[in-house]
Amino acid sequence: MIRVLQTKTILLGVTGSIAAYKAATLASQLTQAGARVDVVMTREATQFIGALTFEALTHRYVATDVMALLPDSQIAHVAMAHRADLFLIAPATAHLLAKLAHGLADDAVSATALDTRAPLVIAPAMETGMWEHPATQANVATLVARGAVIVEPGIGQLASGASGRGRLADLDDIVDTVRAVLGRAGDLAQRKIVVTAGGTQEPLDPVRVLANRSSGKMGFALAAGARDRGARVTLIAGATSLRVPRGVEFVAAPTAREMRDAVLGAIGDADALVMAAAVADFRPAHTAEQKIKKEHAERLTLELVRNPDILQEVASRLPPADRRALLVIGFAAETQDLLAHARAKLKAKGLDLIVANPVPQSFGADIEAATLLTRDGAAMELSPLPKEELAEKVLDFVSAKLARHSLNENSTMARDTGSG
Ligand code: C5P
Repeated sequence: MIRVLQTKTILLGVTGSIAAYKAATLASQLTQAGARVDVVMTREATQFIGALTFEALTHRYVATDVMALLPDSQIAHVAMAHRADLFLIAPATAHLLAKLAHGLADDAVSATALDTRAPLVIAPAMETGMWEHPATQANVATLVARGAVIVEPGIGQLASGASGRGRLADLDDIVDTVRAVLGRAGDLAQRKIVVTAGGTQEPLDPVRVLANRSSGKMGFALAAGARDRGARVTLIAGATSLRVPRGVEFVAAPTAREMRDAVLGAIGDADALVMAAAVADFRPAHTAEQKIKKEHAERLTLELVRNPDILQEVASRLPPADRRALLVIGFAAETQDLLAHARAKLKAKGLDLIVANPVPQSFGADIEAATLLTRDGAAMELSPLPKEELAEKVLDFVSAKLARHSLNENSTMARDTGSG
């Protein structure tokens, strides 16, 4: 379940492109993530994929005709237009874009688009020539000027067999855009959150690294969750094979030293730093310029030196935790004496919150058990939960703390100016 999608009604408009079949996966993903999905289709779309497919996936009525009525005699597309929290049109044909730009309403999708006041997200799909045509580009510009968000088509194989721009965007990018648009006025709007993720890799030679088993899933879930609550997010990641979430600023920082530089560069105007990365404590003292060859020796001894502790450097550059504007959150991954080590780290690294989790079982897993420990001594033990939900708990803490900061600042200002 994705928090920003729960309790939301997404209206999915499907038009007559071969990519219409992909809209079934979108409907399914959004439904499984917790959204109510209403589907409205053009006649042409029903030639590519049946309304029944969407009804079966969403368990809801699907409108394919402007004249269609719901069982209680309401006009289907009007009722759908009014109850939508967001209108996603995917795929949108060149013809549909032209209709929307000019306010035409002669099919169920364009009529619904004219009537709804929900934010509009459009994922076009068409042949390259149609996409690049000045008429289409002008229509897109008109829609953007009116507030629509376009998920640009990608490059790849098209219906004609040719390859070029026009392919429906990646479905994950479409879902990311829906999440970001739904959450743009969320409780972290106007905030900047810096998140680190994944394990760092310290080079031994041009082809080998000293690494750890961190997958990056926790940090990526935090970054996506903060974006879904309206925050401006900088995601600084070590080694990871995960897809970069759309709508966050991404910085690749493969080594601990690169990550330190990226973090120190990003926190200047940030409200919170969440260090979910598994930073290597040590790195090879020397990185060989050429590949180390086994023929040269029977044994190889590596000399390691300490890496900078990023959180400690942050703490040393800022005022003490109770007097600074930046919230700092760390993770403690331990194989033994979890809580004792976590409490010691909370203190030594000047943190506001530490997330204690047992390793190695949580590395790479989707579900994680954790205990949240705060600076004032409170502890919240969480039974195993998906990383997305753990991320929301951490962000709940960030949001509540930042709201309290702002409240305190306002009341201090009010006192200082003699008002209130
Ligand atoms: O000391 P330890 O590595 O167990 O602390 C874990 C926390 O400190 C994590 O939040 C991790 O991102 C951060 N850390 C760091 N710099 C290091 C090592 C860990 O900021 N060199």
